[in-house]
Amino acid sequence: MSKILTIGANGQIGRLFCQKAKDAELPIRAMVRNDEQRARFEAQGIEAVVGDLEGDFFHAFDGCDRVVFTAGSGGSTGGDKTLLVDLYGAIRAISESEARDVDHFVMVSALRAEQPLEAAPAMRHYMVAKLLADQRLLESDVPATILRPGRLTDEAGSGRVRTSLAAGEGFDVSRENVAGCILEALRQPSTANRVVDLLDGNTPIEGAFAEG
Ligand SMILES: NC(=O)c1ccc[n+]([C@@H]2O[C@H](COP(=O)([O-])OP(=O)(O)OC[C@H]3O[C@@H](n4cnc5c(N)ncnc54)[C@H](OP(=O)(O)O)[C@@H]3O)[C@@H](O)[C@H]2O)c1
Repeated sequence: MSKILTIGANGQIGRLFCQKAKDAELPIRAMVRNDEQRARFEAQGIEAVVGDLEGDFFHAFDGCDRVVFTAGSGGSTGGDKTLLVDLYGAIRAISESEARDVDHFVMVSALRAEQPLEAAPAMRHYMVAKLLADQRLLESDVPATILRPGRLTDEAGSGRVRTSLAAGEGFDVSRENVAGCILEALRQPSTANRVVDLLDGNTPIEGAFAEG
């Protein structure tokens, strides 16, 4: 059976998603950055492959028909990594998905990525990277779900979200809820592109962003 390639599998959302996918018996392949991480995933019964978005990773796509992108350079590296990982790494993953006729690409983007100049000055270049990667995905032939979480927290997942940002309401969303939404996105038909804001809320994740 074709697999779901998870890029950024060793990240906080990535690990939560991989565990949920395994529990749901979905066929996944975790892309991680080194052999130690690979061994840890394999000890959990999750197939893993080593790949680096700044270098070689196209082999990770072999036998995969769906892709989850939840990698990120993080806040402790500079703008160079934002360009190389969040922007160019994502673009290369999208191009490879196009070349291989991937059926569904689920991108973890960021809330308000469409308005980088409204972000705090230190975040603007990151928002530009997210916006341009999202635009590349929407212009591609690959059916896409773009999830745009707000501020990530480590709270236990409530299993309930909001998909629009209303004035006066909070910006937070737990990483576990985001992981649950990736799983939900993969369960939906991938015929139309969707861009979905994600915040903690009251709507059960199941069906929270069904087409319709
Ligand atoms: N922080 C926020 O509030 C916020 C808000 C909205 C959206 N987001 C987005 O949410 C996503 C994931 O969040 P998270 O908390 O799970 O982040 P995280 O824990 O920092 O995970 C990021 C993952 O990306 C991997 N990575 C970094 N560089 C890579 C490269 N060159 N090649 C392959 N993989 C690479 C890391 O690998 P290692 O494990 O080896 O380091 C890590 O596993 C990111 O796309 C981020 O931009 C964050």
